[in-house]
This record gives sequence, structure tokens and C-alpha cells, in this order.
Amino acid sequence: MLIAQISDLHLRADGKRLKNTVDTQATLDACLDHLAAMQPRPDVVLATGDLAHDGKRRDYRALREAFDGLPMPVYPIPGNHDHRGKLRDAFADRGVFPPDGPFLNYVIEDHPLRLVGLDTVMEGADGGEFCAARRDWLDRSLAEAPTRPTLIFMHHPPFATGIGFMDATPFAGAAETEAVVRRHSQVVGVVCGHMHRAITVGWGGTVAMVAPSIVFQMVLDLARDAPSGFVLEPPAVPLYLWRDDAGLIAHMSLIGDFGPRHPFHPPAD
Ligand SMILES: [Fe+2]
Ligand SMILES: [Fe+2]
Repeated sequence: MLIAQISDLHLRADGKRLKNTVDTQATLDACLDHLAAMQPRPDVVLATGDLAHDGKRRDYRALREAFDGLPMPVYPIPGNHDHRGKLRDAFADRGVFPPDGPFLNYVIEDHPLRLVGLDTVMEGADGGEFCAARRDWLDRSLAEAPTRPTLIFMHHPPFATGIGFMDATPFAGAAETEAVVRRHSQVVGVVCGHMHRAITVGWGGTVAMVAPSIVFQMVLDLARDAPSGFVLEPPAVPLYLWRDDAGLIAHMSLIGDFGPRHPFHPPAD
């Protein structure tokens, strides 16, 4: 099974540039073209939040249309820039999100790897949250299939990443969430977004990874007091290969034209 992750699309379907810099429709189009051209083709795509920059209905309609053009299913989860209700409405007929209730948590059972999507949004805040109700839901959902290898996906990372100005916004309930994941040894990985950088940590007795954004990356400055800033490094799509004989294998597929494939053993000239 091959899983692709796209994160932090920050789509502005009004045509205005994100932070006066990024054409988010163009970055989305390039990302989706990249996904559609991949060989072998990913079986599923996880879209891990900050899907629409301003959480507007128009943005979700455009996203839905774009995702429907892909040959594989896309599983969305909200981020701090998203609007739960409008996101739920745009994808209502897909049968992924719960039809009602306060959170957009769900489980996908159709694949060799069980996929658990978590809603980490704290209403009105940039930081993430995992409250008691969501922890109970996660604990129960994981307990339902203790022998099924499981991948958790969500927007906010509930751990430090070393990007100081992003870590400064805390994740409420991080330690309790870590304890829930640690109790369930079938969790083979946790994938997140929000930080706009590729980051890997050991967490909750498993491996946790953060995806780059497809619009811009946070400056790689690991000084604790580094100022905030972004750079236009190449966007990328994390790929997670799941093999029964090898477990979860993570790769990073950069979006862009980097020239043709060169023979590793070129003929002598
Ligand atoms: Fe973001
Ligand atoms: Fe975010």
C-alpha cells in the first residue's frame, strides 16, 4: 500500500496571493499533477489540514472539485485555518466525516493499513488541542482493532519540533495524547502537518513525521529564539510505503522539474 500526504495547501480561490507571495491555486495544481503522474500511483492521499487559508466555502468547493479529479481517494482533516462546518459540508456526500458532532474524527477500514484521522483544531486558536472527548474517542477506536497496523494522521504535531516560533504555541493535551498512542502498539506511525517542514521524531512509542507544506516552508533555524519567517524551498509530498514484510517506509517526493533520470552506470565515453 502506498500513501501520499499533502499538507497545508492554504488555498485562496479568490486568486489573491498568500502573504503577497504564493499563488496557491498554482501550487495546488502542481501538487495534484505531481500526484496524478506518480508511478506507482499512491492508493490514497491524506490531506492534513490548513486546506483553505480563510476557511471559505468557495475554497472548499474548489478543493473538492480538484480532489475529485484525482484517480485515488483523498482523506481530509481540518487545520487551524479551516472551518469545520464548511469543510464537512463540502465533503458530506463522501461519507468520510461524521455527519454531526463537534469533531471531524474518523477511521478508514478499506486498506491494509487502518487509517485514523484526528481533528486537533482548537476553536479560535492557532495551536492544537486534544481534549478528553477526543482522547476517549481515539482510545476506543484504537482498542477496536488492536492487531490491525494503523497510521494516525492529523494537523497539529503534539510534540516539539525545534522550530522555536512554532513550538511557542502549545498543543493542549499533548502528554495525555502521547499516553493514549503509547498504549496501542499497532500504531506504526503518526503523520502531521502545520509546521511547514519535514520533521521526524520518536513519539508515543512509534515514529511521528511532519510534512512540508505545498505553499511555503518555515525557515530552518533551530535557534530557540529564531524569528518567524518562510522561504520558497521546493514543496514536497511525503510517501509512506506499507509492506507486510518491512513495515512503514517513508520517502519524500519533491515537486518540481529536476531534469531527466540519468543512468547510474553511464556508458564510458
Ligand atoms: Fe499551515
Ligand atoms: Fe496550521
